[in-house]
Amino acid sequence: MREAVPHTTAERAVSLGFGEPAIDRAEVVPFVALDRQHAALEDELQEAFDRVWRTGAFILGGEVDAFEREFADYCEVAACVGVSSGTSALALALIAAGIGRGDEVVVPAHTFIASALGVLHAGATPVFCDVQADTGLIDPDSLDAVVGPRTAAVIPVHLYGQACDMDRINALAATRGLFVLEDAAQAHGARWHGRPVGSLGDAAAFSFYPSKNLGALGDGGAVCTDDTALAQRVAQLRHLGQRGKGEHLLIGYNARLHGLQAALLRVKLAHLNRWNDERRRHAKRLRGGLPNGLSPLAERPQSTCVYHLFPVRHTSRDELAELLSADGIGVGMHYTPAAHRHPAFELLPARSCPVELPESEAWAGQELSLPMFAELREAEVDRVVAACISACEQLGPAHV
Ligand SMILES: Cc1ncc(COP(=O)(O)O)c(C=O)c1O
Repeated sequence: MREAVPHTTAERAVSLGFGEPAIDRAEVVPFVALDRQHAALEDELQEAFDRVWRTGAFILGGEVDAFEREFADYCEVAACVGVSSGTSALALALIAAGIGRGDEVVVPAHTFIASALGVLHAGATPVFCDVQADTGLIDPDSLDAVVGPRTAAVIPVHLYGQACDMDRINALAATRGLFVLEDAAQAHGARWHGRPVGSLGDAAAFSFYPSKNLGALGDGGAVCTDDTALAQRVAQLRHLGQRGKGEHLLIGYNARLHGLQAALLRVKLAHLNRWNDERRRHAKRLRGGLPNGLSPLAERPQSTCVYHLFPVRHTSRDELAELLSADGIGVGMHYTPAAHRHPAFELLPARSCPVELPESEAWAGQELSLPMFAELREAEVDRVVAACISACEQLGPAHV
C-alpha cells in the first residue's frame, strides 16, 4: 500500500520531523511581535517610565547620560552619543568628521535608503558600490573599484545583523585615506573576530527604531566611537550646536535622544544578549528545515550574526511572498528596489553609479524575509518551515 502523502502544511511539518505544531494552522505567524517583548518587560518598562516623568528630564538628562555610558561599554568604545534616529546618527557622524559638500561617500546599493540619505543630509554625494552575492554585504572589490579622488568615507552596512568584512574594508580605507562609518542599525551585539560592531571603524551609527534588535518605544539612535573629540562634536551638533547653555559653537540640529527612550533602552539593553541568542537559535532551526529551493544568508566564520532579519532568496520571490502570506506567514522584503533605483535619487549625478550593480539588483529582486524575533515560538518556526516547503513545491524548481 502506498504511504499517505501529507497534504496540509501541518501534516508536512509532522512528516518532516518538526513535531506536532502546537498552533492552529489558521493562526498567523507574525513577521514581528513587539507586544510579546513588551508584555514580558511590563513592570520594568513601567518603572523606567515613572522614573522619567517624576524627574521631568524629557530631553537629554541623566537617563541619556547613563544609557550612553552603558551602550559605550556594550560596544567596547570610549564614547556613545544618543541622537534622535539612525538616520541622524549617520548624518551627524559624517558632519562631525568634516565630511560634506564636494565629498563622496561610498554606500552599498543593497541597503535601506537611510544609509544613503545620511550622506545627502551631510551635504555629501553617495556613490554606490555592489554587494557580495552570498551575504548581501558590501563587496570590498567593488568598493575598491568606485573610490575616486573625492571619496572621503565609506559606510559598511552590517545588513541583516551580520558584520561586513572589516579586515578588508579597514585595510582599504587605510590605504585610500577614508573615514569608516559603520552602519550598525541592524546589528546591535554582532561581532567580527569577536569584536563588537560599533568598535570596528572610526565611528558607528545605530538605530533604535522599535523593531531593531535593541529598539526604543519610538525613534532613537546613537553614534559610537573611540574618538572622544568626534563624539563631543556629535554631542554639540545634536543639541543645536550648543556647548554650554547659550553657547552655540556650531550650526547644529535638533536631533537629541529623549530621556524616556533612554530609560526604556536601558531596560532592554540588559536583555539584548539573551534575545540575540534566541534569534540565532531560531535561525539555526529555520536553516535546518528550509527546502533546497530557498537560499538563506551565508554566514562568515569570522562573524557572530545577530539575525535582525532572516532573509532567503528565490527567483519567484513575489509569488513566494503571496503563497506564504496566504498561508498566514508574515513576510517582508529588504530591500526593493536597490538603493540607487529610488525615485528620490533621480537627480544624483552619474558619478553616483560608476559601476554595474548586478548583485544588488539580484538581492532587490529575489530577497524575502521570514519571521524573526526573539519571542518567536518553536512551533511557529516549524510552521514557517512547513509553509516554505509547501510554497516551494507549488512554485517548482526555479531557484538561485
Ligand atoms: C541599515 C539601516 N540604516 C539606517 C537606518 C535608519 O535608522 P532610523 O530609522 O532610526 O533613522 C535603518 C533603519 O531604519 C537601517 O536599517
